[in-house]
Amino acid sequence: MEELEDHLHQLETSLPKELWMGAFPIFLYQNYWCPFRRLKPSILFQTQFEAFDTDIILASLPKTGTTWLKSLLYTIVNRNIYSDFNKHPLHSENAHKFVPHFEYTVYVNTSDETLPNLAKLSPPRLFATHITYFSLPKSIKSSKSRIIYVCRNPLDTFISSWHFYPQVDLHNNNEQDHNMIEEHFGMFCEGKFPFGPYDDHVLGYWKESVQNPNKLLFMEYEGLKEDPKAHVKKLAEFVGYPFSEQEENKGIIDDIIKLCSLESLKEMDVNKNGSYYGFFENKALFRKGEVGDWTNYLSPTIVKNFDQNILEKFKASGFSS
Ligand code: A3P
Repeated sequence: MEELEDHLHQLETSLPKELWMGAFPIFLYQNYWCPFRRLKPSILFQTQFEAFDTDIILASLPKTGTTWLKSLLYTIVNRNIYSDFNKHPLHSENAHKFVPHFEYTVYVNTSDETLPNLAKLSPPRLFATHITYFSLPKSIKSSKSRIIYVCRNPLDTFISSWHFYPQVDLHNNNEQDHNMIEEHFGMFCEGKFPFGPYDDHVLGYWKESVQNPNKLLFMEYEGLKEDPKAHVKKLAEFVGYPFSEQEENKGIIDDIIKLCSLESLKEMDVNKNGSYYGFFENKALFRKGEVGDWTNYLSPTIVKNFDQNILEKFKASGFSS
């Protein structure tokens, strides 16, 4: 334990540091910008987590649709246990409770001496992470556990973050300073935001999905919005819970989509009044959910360079979805 604390102290004093949105310290750790408070849990996750073949892990950058995917995943996998969607657990708890994040909850308030007993959880264990593919624990990569990655247009991701972060730590300050948007966007473009850079994060997972499609399912927020039925079917098949013909005929896919829609989740009492472990109010997780909302905030001139850079990097790596 002392060793870990010493190591952390050493990292804190030596790693490059930036301030995201003027308030949140982030450290460049293993080539991604790790929020200060996530450093210790991320290291514990990396060094202590033992994956099972039955595990399902959702990976994403923040603000790319994580809550949506968690809700869908949990509902799909548990649909035989919770078949009455009017009394579904999502009505009383946010999906983040059912699909816990390694670095936000699972390994928080623990040390290498008081690790959580994850072995007792019944399979399939559902977890989530924001860390890069490169930094995932070895046992996730070497086991037969499955990974789902959700990616979103970077500009919409930025705008979503820009609205979200002032509400973290229950600041309740919904009003962002519009004069600062270019400065924050500049940092985003340089990759200096929680778990950035964007391209490294997306391409790391995308490459693995190409090399190992049975291991990693690469999904896009925009695709899921455009054709939820096809994507939900694919997700269910990938995690080993395909829909039977009978289920399809009964309209269960539509019911799942409806239960997990932004409109439905937003109206649930737990999301109107609850909070995420005291960090922010659950309602901050549900805003507009629109594709292309960035055009309401960023001018084409501002995004031009970033767009070109990202496109070139993606093209050079052969990215196509
Ligand atoms: P906007 O801020 O653009 O509205 P995350 O869950 O990774 O934090 O992502 C949050 C983004 O996903 C927010 O985007 C939020 O509105 C959107 N979102 C949350 N639940 C959703 C759902 N069920 N369907 C579609 N989008 C959803």
